[in-house]
Amino acid sequence: MPKALYIKTWGCQMNEYDSTRMVDVLAPLGYERTDRADGADLVILNTCHIREKAAEKLFSELGRLRPLQSAKQKAGGRMVVAVAGCVAQAEGEALQARAGNVDLVFGPQTYHRLPELLSRIDGTTRLVVDTEFPVESKFDRLPEEAVAPGVSAYLSVQEGCDKFCSFCVVPYTRGAEFSRPVAAVLAEAERLVARGAKEITLLGQNVNAFHGIGPDGRPWSLGRLIRHLAEHTGVLRLRYTTSHPLDVDEELVSAHRDVVQLMPFLHLPVQSGSDRVLAAMNRKHTADQYRCIIDTLRTARPDLALSSDFIVGFPGETDRDFAETLRLVDDVGFVQAYSFKYSPRPGTPAAALGRRQVPDAVKAERLVALQERLNAHQRAFNRACLGRRLPVLFDRFGRRPGQILGRSPAMQSVHVEAPETLLGHQMDVEIQTAHANSLGGVVVPKTALGAGGHQRLERVA
Ligand code: SAH
Ligand code: SF4
Ligand code: F3S
Repeated sequence: MPKALYIKTWGCQMNEYDSTRMVDVLAPLGYERTDRADGADLVILNTCHIREKAAEKLFSELGRLRPLQSAKQKAGGRMVVAVAGCVAQAEGEALQARAGNVDLVFGPQTYHRLPELLSRIDGTTRLVVDTEFPVESKFDRLPEEAVAPGVSAYLSVQEGCDKFCSFCVVPYTRGAEFSRPVAAVLAEAERLVARGAKEITLLGQNVNAFHGIGPDGRPWSLGRLIRHLAEHTGVLRLRYTTSHPLDVDEELVSAHRDVVQLMPFLHLPVQSGSDRVLAAMNRKHTADQYRCIIDTLRTARPDLALSSDFIVGFPGETDRDFAETLRLVDDVGFVQAYSFKYSPRPGTPAAALGRRQVPDAVKAERLVALQERLNAHQRAFNRACLGRRLPVLFDRFGRRPGQILGRSPAMQSVHVEAPETLLGHQMDVEIQTAHANSLGGVVVPKTALGAGGHQRLERVA
């Protein structure tokens, strides 16, 4: 009898990657992933600690699991509940005190030990905790992927962060920067492509700080890794996330210029447009330096679409600082972005700036203003796509019957009415409708395509 495994994932793409790899680790023990917690033998909550709300979601989920655990017990079984990810790393045993129904706690660096951790849970042991940063790398211990990847797959190449932005928990929950060797990344990428992945997104908390050992015994940059993967795997599309502005180097810029598989889209968080705030955040660059980096990238790849992350209401942020953020948004013309109210995180330097905290009402007001501005840019970019032909890689079903969805090079969701046999294929789509968050169009039959290839998207500022 297979055992039912339910995993709920919050947070970043690296957590999603980790959840997929946990399935691989547990497959030899007879676990099969289900999409329902009800009746599961093992529930893993793979958590995020980045903002306060993210951690709170864990506790409400644990509350929801209680009756399911009792029901399972009444039926003569046991539902083991595990907390994984960044909250597990940060809170460790304290989780047991806040929620008595947790059996197992492990951090992002120890899930390769899951079989052994599970074997330690029995009638007498109430809680097993493993939040070490082990000397061995989990990547050396993980089995090959048990489950076939989707059309678009994630591949972790780098983990951890040494930047210590003053608001951020990641250096504490994920530990120091670590890069996988190029050969290991290549082997995983080859397997993903052989099993049907058409697009690979290289992941890292600070992915462009990648410095994995290359076949020549020297550290390779991300740009070099991208070239290598493009040349040797036959992958159709490559992306990477998340990057730090300071680690954009010449090899990365030239990869954007030369590598056709590398999509013209970059998520490059800036957080704020104010030099004062950037300094207090310990981002180690100014707003103008960020503008310069964007200019360099756009000189190499004129149709590069930019996305970013912003924090409003960082301690001490004034109206004038915030106005600088809006100015930067207008200067760059991001095609999409994520924006957040600053959330003090325990143990981070910014959380200790007690009296300088910005009132919540001000944060909320600034967030609305910022999002309005960002949305206006996104809508303008989407509207500028009307009438164009964009290559779309179809990767999922749409909400309506007969509809399938895919992504444009700039990550826009594009929906078309088309047979599902097109899933997994890249086709040109003539864009006919532009919405706030998506585009719609019709597939252009391959024979109708001119020899000239795809039009490049021009930037709309
Ligand atoms: N490694 C990435 C981002 C990791 S976290 C980088 O270097 O930018 C993802 C985003 O969450 C961050 O870019 C930031 O905008 C947001 N974030 C992180 N800590 C936060 C906090 N304490 N409050 C609000 N937003 C935060
Ligand atoms: Fe956090 Fe990113 Fe800064 Fe690292 S670079 S501390 S992950 S925001
Ligand atoms: Fe969250 Fe940890 Fe990712 S805190 S954003 S899951 S690195």
